[in-house]
Amino acid sequence: MDLDSRAPAISDLKARAKRRIPHFVWEYLDSGTGTEAAVARNRAAFDRVLFEPSILHGDFTPDLTCSLMGQRYPLPVGISPVGSSGVMWPDAELRLARLAGREGIPYGLSTVAMRTPEETGPLAKGHGWFQLYPPRQEDIRKDMLRRAKAAGFGTLVLTVDVPANSRRERQVRGGLSQPIRLTPRMLWQMARCPAWSLGIAKQGRPRMKLIESYDKASGSLSSVAHVGTLLRTSPDWSYVDWLRDHWEGKLVVKGVMRAADVQPLIKAGVDAIWVSNHAGRQLDAAPAALSALPAIRKAAGDAYPLIYDSGIESGLDVLRALALGADFVMLGKAFHFGLGAYGDAGAAHVLEILRKDMESNMCQIGARNLKELQSALLRGA
Ligand SMILES: Cc1cc2nc3c(=O)[nH]c(=O)nc-3n(C[C@H](O)[C@H](O)[C@H](O)COP(=O)(O)O)c2cc1C
Repeated sequence: MDLDSRAPAISDLKARAKRRIPHFVWEYLDSGTGTEAAVARNRAAFDRVLFEPSILHGDFTPDLTCSLMGQRYPLPVGISPVGSSGVMWPDAELRLARLAGREGIPYGLSTVAMRTPEETGPLAKGHGWFQLYPPRQEDIRKDMLRRAKAAGFGTLVLTVDVPANSRRERQVRGGLSQPIRLTPRMLWQMARCPAWSLGIAKQGRPRMKLIESYDKASGSLSSVAHVGTLLRTSPDWSYVDWLRDHWEGKLVVKGVMRAADVQPLIKAGVDAIWVSNHAGRQLDAAPAALSALPAIRKAAGDAYPLIYDSGIESGLDVLRALALGADFVMLGKAFHFGLGAYGDAGAAHVLEILRKDMESNMCQIGARNLKELQSALLRGA
């Protein structure tokens, strides 16, 4: 199938996925919180970033390769951790881990995914990043780290921007309750999405398998209720120290928006900082994550690794984030739009869209490699 002509942009994948994913699930995937002003702010910040067009620079093929935390990558793009990913599209975790392993890019597995580190780690072929929402009990914490490491996850990502559940009113309006209670309206939405429904039926009832594996004492609780008792999503600084002492691989802190937090994190031994406002899903009054990037780069110094996500919709957006100080970017929703639109081929097509769009725009602005982007920057976010 020639996906390039059917879906030349991520927005095309999004439009098709929206038709093929039941509405109540779609609302969980696509929504921000509150009035979704932070989502709009993310988009507006990208659109403010301008590059100077370049002329008469002759032929060249842009070099998209880069290094991050001692690893080489074919392009500066990876897959963000998405909780309940396998509800957005059947077997999403396996599909995306496999894509990452094949393409040699990072795959983020959420603590609250439907699949375990053991199922996804080998597929990601050493490119797995395990995202941690901290278990309260130390023995469970240690066991999760041990399992992630044994399954091939060399990088641990501590997410710090979920100090409390966000209300996400649009999800509530969509009918998603916790735990899920299927209403006739939701069943009708599922019936209208046969590819999703058949896939979910084949996959089996979606369950947070990692979380449930620690459900010895409370077998009667649903996954969602169990998450609340098992995890403490709002860790403090001593927790970062604890992780640094107990995790031998790379440690990344995700959800940083303030320059003032940068030096303390670096001093705590964190290997990379991940700038993100969780795609506008947590605090509606948060600034655009892109706007926070330059001050964080300044506070971190030139050489320290910075990762960025939130709101990337094109290869040009990737270039914008890199020009403002990121070394690497991750995307969450876009890969699920790809899966929802065309399955595995759609997720792979997201990378193809990003790659081609980056190459085309680097030629427009005369940047031969990613390091040259900054000098073409005309206006920031
Ligand atoms: C449906 C959904 C679930 C998410 N679940 C998690 C999660 O479990 N852990 C986490 O660290 N971030 C989670 N995120 C945030 C993503 O990792 C990432 O920061 C964000 O999606 C990036 O923005 P983008 O989707 O615009 O690319 C989730 C995002 C979405 C859309």
